[in-house]
Amino acid sequence: MNTVKTVRELRAAVARARGEGKRIGFVPTMGNLHSGHVALVTKATQRVDFVVASIFVNPLQFGAGEDLDKYPRTLAADQEKLLQAGCHLLFAPTAEEMYPDGMAGQTRVSVPQLCEGLCGASRPGHFEGVATVVTKLFNMVQPDLAIFGQKDFQQLAVIRALVHDLNMPIQIIGEPTVRAADGLALSSRNGFLSEELRAVAPVLYRGLNQIADAIKQGERDFPALIGAQIKQLEAAGLRPDYLEIRHAPTLRPATPEDRDLVILVAAFLGTTRLIDNLHLNLDAPA
Ligand code: PAF
Repeated sequence: MNTVKTVRELRAAVARARGEGKRIGFVPTMGNLHSGHVALVTKATQRVDFVVASIFVNPLQFGAGEDLDKYPRTLAADQEKLLQAGCHLLFAPTAEEMYPDGMAGQTRVSVPQLCEGLCGASRPGHFEGVATVVTKLFNMVQPDLAIFGQKDFQQLAVIRALVHDLNMPIQIIGEPTVRAADGLALSSRNGFLSEELRAVAPVLYRGLNQIADAIKQGERDFPALIGAQIKQLEAAGLRPDYLEIRHAPTLRPATPEDRDLVILVAAFLGTTRLIDNLHLNLDAPA
């Protein structure tokens, strides 16, 4: 696996692979890779001939006071994991390479509506930063397909929308969330949790399942379900940012008649903000 740091080297390597008739798959990441990222790369190796991953902690998607500076940077360990997973090329640019003219005047990509609410409400500008960097990365790599984790459900919806709206010929694949044995969704931010807080964290996924079970049993009083679960999270020591039931395909607030639902949560545990979700399609075969 080659690691390149410039757009020029990236384009040359991808052009060589294309010249050999290879289909290109892309897995964008911010590094500090865990089994969830490895699963995305493995999936890509099954679908295409040449897999490109990127590692770039994108300053444009972090708000003031967020964890940009302390976001873990573990390039050597990440390279090893990517190599083992069968990745062919790693693009690991600097901020100067990605934003050579600085970020203030950078053209932005915004996806209205889908960015509103949920993480978009508590992290203003976050999805504009994500949509902008993903658009730039897509233009640099020009992959046939790109793979993202479903843990970032709203992000995946935003990326699907931008690809559709901007007519990008890229197939977007969402892969299921990879979880620890106790149910906690794998995340680079889990490393910020002390042993004590890490033991509490699985309450998030248990809560999502409790709501899903109640809905499956016919409960449709969503505000009551949410209210009860927020109390449980608070009792466990979390500070919920949001807990919502939405219509999965559109992300609009769910109605009791909807059959394809997603339950989404974000909560602070200590100073660490964790997110998770559970997709519940009542019409899917059991
Ligand atoms: O999900 C992430 O790691 C990031 O938001 C992404 C998609 C790589 C853009 O920086």
